[in-house]
Amino acid sequence: MVQYAGKLVLAPMVRAGELPTRLLALKYGADLVWSPEIVDKKLIQCQRQVNDALNTIDFVAPATREGMEPGVVFRTVPELERGKLIFQIGTSTPSLAVEAALKVIKDVDGIDVNAGCPKHFSIHSGMGAALLKTPEKLCSILTELVAKVGNVYNKPISVKIRILDNEADTLNLVENICKTGVSNLTVHCRTTPMRNRESPIRDYIPKIYEICTSHNVSLIMNGAIKDKNDFLQLRKELKLSDSIGGMMADCAEKNPTVFSSNPLPWFKAVKEYLDIAVQYNHHPSNVKYMLNRMTPGKSPFYQYFTQCRKLPDFLYVCKQLDEEGKPIEDPLPFLKEEHEKEKKQKKKQNDIKSLEKSNAKRSAENTTDTSSKKAKSA
Ligand SMILES: Cc1cc2nc3c(=O)[nH]c(=O)nc-3n(C[C@H](O)[C@H](O)[C@H](O)COP(=O)(O)O)c2cc1C
Repeated sequence: MVQYAGKLVLAPMVRAGELPTRLLALKYGADLVWSPEIVDKKLIQCQRQVNDALNTIDFVAPATREGMEPGVVFRTVPELERGKLIFQIGTSTPSLAVEAALKVIKDVDGIDVNAGCPKHFSIHSGMGAALLKTPEKLCSILTELVAKVGNVYNKPISVKIRILDNEADTLNLVENICKTGVSNLTVHCRTTPMRNRESPIRDYIPKIYEICTSHNVSLIMNGAIKDKNDFLQLRKELKLSDSIGGMMADCAEKNPTVFSSNPLPWFKAVKEYLDIAVQYNHHPSNVKYMLNRMTPGKSPFYQYFTQCRKLPDFLYVCKQLDEEGKPIEDPLPFLKEEHEKEKKQKKKQNDIKSLEKSNAKRSAENTTDTSSKKAKSA
């Protein structure tokens, strides 16, 4: 069973925590990686598919519109992630949480419940930080998951919360959570209204840790940790036990190699990220999102990546990065040419489609014509 104590881990991050980011974080020393939050109902719709071409397990949602491809909602590489992957679900209903968790439990190493997301999308349906206001519901979700998923598959259940407005309320919540049988608690040391740019409040951590320890629950602290060295120093400065873990989001989104004592500079991290993304045929729109997060806004590469559409575009642009992150050649003429080619190809495809449509229409009209003539002569 996965142990969380003292580990430095990649935070759950919608959009940012997809497969290439997790694999890069693992390569550079992350002890555990969290999946992005996936909502229970979405996961329940998915089909599990073994992808022999990529050596991955894919959870694929059906197409929502005609002509649309089914979408990969979650992809994992068992060979590289086994023993280190925690799957986070968004939920507000115990039975749906259990159904969703059962769908993935054999392919992941633990299930985490998101009880900290402040976004409207989460809280309007009672998920994320809304669960902090309905602690009984939160605890019943956790109790059900422990009984029906964790205990059955011998895998840990955990939860990620934010601190409440005062220490007493926070400790009371922690006590109740610990009684549900969870194995780990992650505390984002900010209250729900606090934004990520605000300094975290770590004052409650020692007492939270005491409660967790008395229930044999491990504790991970989250909020404004800058990299591995910062985490180790912070733990020392605050005189916290070595068994308290650390979770990093923002800095790991900008550079997933921050788990190493010597993180790569952005221009090397970007190359490694892209190699992984290409290897697993990752979606170009998510690659663009990540490369734009990883590239400093003042670098011309920020604009170059913005202009890319396909994986080969990103590869071409990346090849123009020299050893100091400066451009070898301006990739914009190449990208312009690629866009023109793509435009022409699209136009050709559309022309073929409309020709096929009008042919089909004509032959349908001919058939009706012939049958009405036949009917008349009969
Ligand atoms: C891009 C992004 C996506 C996030 N998505 C999630 C999520 O899916 N689930 C979750 O519990 N928290 C999510 N968070 C919050 C982080 O996990 C973390 O709690 C927060 O950013 C504070 O950590 P930091 O100060 O290291 O950034 C997200 C944060 C970012 C920046």
